[in-house]
Amino acid sequence: MARLDGRKVLITGGASGIGRATCELFAREGAAVVVLDRDTTRVTGAKAIACDVSDATSVARAVQQAAQELDGLDGLVNAAGVFFNKGLMETTAEVWNTTIAVNLTGTFLCVKAAVPLLRKADRASIVNIASGVGLLPTGGGSTAYVASKGGVIALTRALAAELAPTIRVNAICPGAVETPMTDGTLRDAAGAVVPAIVNRYALGRPAAPEEIAEAILFLTAHESSFVTGVSLAVDGGRTFH
Ligand SMILES: NC(=O)c1ccc[n+]([C@@H]2O[C@H](COP(=O)([O-])OP(=O)(O)OC[C@H]3O[C@@H](n4cnc5c(N)ncnc54)[C@H](O)[C@@H]3O)[C@@H](O)[C@H]2O)c1
Repeated sequence: MARLDGRKVLITGGASGIGRATCELFAREGAAVVVLDRDTTRVTGAKAIACDVSDATSVARAVQQAAQELDGLDGLVNAAGVFFNKGLMETTAEVWNTTIAVNLTGTFLCVKAAVPLLRKADRASIVNIASGVGLLPTGGGSTAYVASKGGVIALTRALAAELAPTIRVNAICPGAVETPMTDGTLRDAAGAVVPAIVNRYALGRPAAPEEIAEAILFLTAHESSFVTGVSLAVDGGRTFH
């Protein structure tokens, strides 16, 4: 039997990168999957609904539509996100507001819209994609992004306490992952991994999105039935290195 047989899962940000790899893995593991993304043209192999996760009206409509499509809901993965590589003095109010609106408020809005449906499920799970920088920044920079991901980690703990025992809530904290979000920053022109990754990460390389999807699968599947409130570093050893 596949690990997500009969499960009905909503994945935000499923058009690209980590969300997309998660969609593909979940489908192979027997789940019915619906993707919410602002860019549905890039979604393959799953039903896609256009949605801006930072917009409460858009989220409420899309989550209802997804639950109708799936005839219920017992899993939510919040993978939609944006990244601006800007330190404090380059962070405009607009960059700050957009980052918090998508990464933190977007997670809150999707959870809030999904919870009434998840409460009706037998064993429901929410997985939020935070970031290793929310646990420990890599140095200066990405100010708004780090703050948004620290917020996702704190929100995950608050929700795990509030929604127990009906719904488990966990976060994944990836290190550097090769996706469009990090395009051009993890390797040099010759394709070699840049020293900042080799030196910071015990494993000396960035992750493939599929390696993050495997951890999301564990936290969504019933085999993690006694795990809630955890922020799991999947970071090639950076945060202990
Ligand atoms: N790539 C990395 O190194 C890395 C590391 C740690 C954490 N993360 C986190 O993992 C998650 C996925 O990132 P990724 O690397 O796959 O990036 P990505 O850019 O490949 O995918 C992000 C997806 O989110 C969607 N999206 C963005 N804003 C949206 C909005 N307002 N409404 C709906 N959809 C929206 C995009 O259309 C895209 O499909 C993000 O939360 C990111 O912060 C990524």
